[in-house]
Amino acid sequence: RGRVLSFLREPVAGDDLAACRYEEDGAVFIKRGKIVAAGDFSTVSAVAGDAPVTDHRPHLVLPGFIDAHAHFPQMQIIASYGAELLDWLNDYTFPEETKFSDAQHARRIARLFLDEMIRHGTTTVAAYCSVHMASAEAFFEESHSRDMLNIAGKVMMDRNAPAGLIDTPQSGYEDSKALIAQWHGKGRQLYAITPRFAITSSPEQMEMAQALAAEHPDCHVQSHLSENHAEIRWAEQLYPQAKDYTDVYARYGLLGRKSLFGHCIHLSDREADAMSETGSVAVFCPTSNLFLGSGLFDYQRYRKRERPLHVAVATDVGGGTNYSMLRTLDEGYKVIALQGEKLNPLASFWQMTRGNAEALSIAERAGTLDAGTDADIVVLDAWATPTMRTRMETIDTLSEELFLLQTLGDDRAVREVYIAGRAAKLGD
Ligand code: GUN
Ligand code: FE
Repeated sequence: RGRVLSFLREPVAGDDLAACRYEEDGAVFIKRGKIVAAGDFSTVSAVAGDAPVTDHRPHLVLPGFIDAHAHFPQMQIIASYGAELLDWLNDYTFPEETKFSDAQHARRIARLFLDEMIRHGTTTVAAYCSVHMASAEAFFEESHSRDMLNIAGKVMMDRNAPAGLIDTPQSGYEDSKALIAQWHGKGRQLYAITPRFAITSSPEQMEMAQALAAEHPDCHVQSHLSENHAEIRWAEQLYPQAKDYTDVYARYGLLGRKSLFGHCIHLSDREADAMSETGSVAVFCPTSNLFLGSGLFDYQRYRKRERPLHVAVATDVGGGTNYSMLRTLDEGYKVIALQGEKLNPLASFWQMTRGNAEALSIAERAGTLDAGTDADIVVLDAWATPTMRTRMETIDTLSEELFLLQTLGDDRAVREVYIAGRAAKLGD
C-alpha cells in the first residue's frame, strides 16, 4: 500500500497525467513474484482478500528502475581522474578488467555490484562483463540467485587491448555460445552478445558476432558507438570501407530492435536514420558523457526528428559516476538543458521505468505495474534528507515531487526494493 505510480505510455507534456496511472491511496497485490492487480487500495483489497499488507504510505511505489548500460568490472575504477575515453580505457579500464580472469574476484565484485544496483532502486541492468567467461558466469550466478531480470554478456574483444584482455574470433564465439546455452532464458536471465566496440573487434570477430546474432535472434546485442571524436576517427580508419561508424555495425548485421548502443553522441543524420530504420536503441549515459568530456547527447533531437530513435538511459558505471538512476536523470536533465531543451519530470520517470523497458523490449515483464508482469518495485521517499524535507514543505504536485526526487534524491531516497515480489535486504 502506498502512493502508486506507473506509466501507460510516454507523456507528451509535463502535465500529461493521462499517461500516468497514479493512486494517492493505492496498492499493488503480488502473488508468487507477479503483479496480480495494481490500482486504488479498496479495489485491490477486494481482489487480495486477507493477504498481508505492507504500508508504505506516504511514499511513492513505482516500477523498479532499469539501467540500460553499465560495466560491472568497473566498480573499482569509478572516479578515476583526468582522462578522456581512449586514455581512460588504456590507463584505468583495461588494467582493471584483466583482474576478472579470477573467478573469485569476479564473484565478489558481481555481488557488490548487484547489491549497489538494488540499493539505488535499480531492479534490471544491461551489464557488460569482462572478456573472461568467468566474469559472465559470476555475474549470472549472482543475478540468478537474486532472481533479478538482468541482461548481460561476456565482452568480445580481440585487438587493441592488453594480452590478458583479449579473446580470438573463435574463442569469443564459442564462449558466448556456451554462455547463451547455459544462461539465456534460465530463470530471468537474458544474454546480450557484446562486441565491446569497433576498435577492439577485428573484422573477423565482427563476423563471429554477426553469426551469433543470426543464430540467436532472441538475444540482445550491445556495444558502444560514437562516444568521442578520437574514437570515431580511429573506428573509421579501422573500417575504411564503412560509410561511417554506425555503418561498421550495419555491415555486420548488428543493428536491430534488440541492439543497444551506448552513447551515440555525435551521430550524423545518416547514422541516426540508419539507427531509426533498424529500430536500434541509442543509450544516453549522461554522467559518463560529462565525466569523460565526451559530449552532449541530443535527446530531444533524437526523439523529435521525423524518424525518431528508440532511446534508453543508463549509468555507464564506471565511466558513469553514480549508480542512481535519479542522479543519472538529474545530470541528463542538465545535458538536455545545455542544448536549450527540457525533459519534464513525468517523461523522465517514464524513461527510467517503462521507457527503458520498451527500449529493451522487456516491457511485457518489467518497467510497468501491469497485471501479469514481474513484481520489481521501488519505494521512494521524497522526505529522505533535511534538504528534501524542507523543500517538500512548499511542493503541491506529483510532478514537482518527482522533480525534487530526481534533482536531490539518491540511494537515501530508496526506502524499499522488491525483486520478483520479495523485499530485498538493503544495506547488507
Ligand atoms: N567504449 C568501449 N569500452 C568502453 C567502456 O568500457 N566505457 C565507455 N564509456 N566507453 C567504452
Ligand atoms: Fe559503456
